[in-house]
Amino acid sequence: MDIRTVGVVGAGQMGNGIAHVFALAGFDVTMTDISQDALTASVEKIAQNLDRQVGRAKLTEAERDAAMARISTTPTLTDLGKLDLIIEAATEKEVVKHAIFAELLPHLGPQTILTSNTSSISITRLASQTDRPERFMGFHFMNPVPVMQLVELIRGIATDSATYDALEAVVAKLGKTSASAEDFPAFIVNRILMPMINEAIYTLYEGVGSVKSIDTSLKLGANHPMGPLELADFIGLDTCLAIMNVLHDGLADTKYRPCPLLTKYVEAGWLGRKTDRGFYDYRGEFPVPTR
Ligand code: CAA
Repeated sequence: MDIRTVGVVGAGQMGNGIAHVFALAGFDVTMTDISQDALTASVEKIAQNLDRQVGRAKLTEAERDAAMARISTTPTLTDLGKLDLIIEAATEKEVVKHAIFAELLPHLGPQTILTSNTSSISITRLASQTDRPERFMGFHFMNPVPVMQLVELIRGIATDSATYDALEAVVAKLGKTSASAEDFPAFIVNRILMPMINEAIYTLYEGVGSVKSIDTSLKLGANHPMGPLELADFIGLDTCLAIMNVLHDGLADTKYRPCPLLTKYVEAGWLGRKTDRGFYDYRGEFPVPTR
């Protein structure tokens, strides 16, 4: 399977990172989103992030310009039908993902591979609602996509080996490394990372440490590049809560219960960096802990 053209559904932080790395690797990328503003902002963000790489001598100006020229946008989801590979990176809500696939399916070519960047929803269940479970896979990028080396590849129960091999080759072409995960709740990275973040929130909730002492402890005591609360804000507290709920529901074990303080922050709309407030307040010059 020769994959050259890629459609990205959803122009949020994951969608723009995915479009960025595919365009840099020479694929033609078409992005779509229900919001024209999100599409416009996403292309601006990609340009900024490419500029940052030029500034750090990771890219030449010619490579940046060639990558930008490979990215186009459309407000019409069904325009993606003729492409070789679709990556759904819309909001982490199963009904939204089902609706996207339902609209797209009648327009897809028979060979098109359909993937989801879901961080935790069952690939087998998503695939079962499509006409191509054998050509459906989980294709999970990490944030920030241009920097993080890993891509998790998740086979649904029906995924065929040609599809797996094609995506493994795509990851190599991106210059990234793939890891194969079986289709169980939250796969590998989030199965391990989210309970750690949730435990950090319990540590805060129970008064064992402040935001600052918890983050400093893990940064300097375990050599993590970001503290767990800083990382939670970076990922999005709504996403962290959604993943904990998937683990809790899917594995039916109380060890995955989401911390009530995480729920409270999400209910407040304090979702982390994207809303300018979470465990830190980002509205000033420097992030300030909110507890
Ligand atoms: N685009 C392009 N380059 C970027 C970038 C972006 N969006 N963000 C950062 N960079 C680059 C910088 O240019 C810089 O490059 P050089 O090393 O070549 O100079 C490098 O990344 C480091 O950036 P900074 O110096 O600005 O900042 P930093 O050293 O503090 O690193 C970080 C930032 C890479 C984000 C680092 O803090 C980190 O690795 N944090 C942990 C991230 C993480 O764990 N991600 C996984 C989240 S879980 C997930 O994504 C799965 C899920 O489903 C929820």
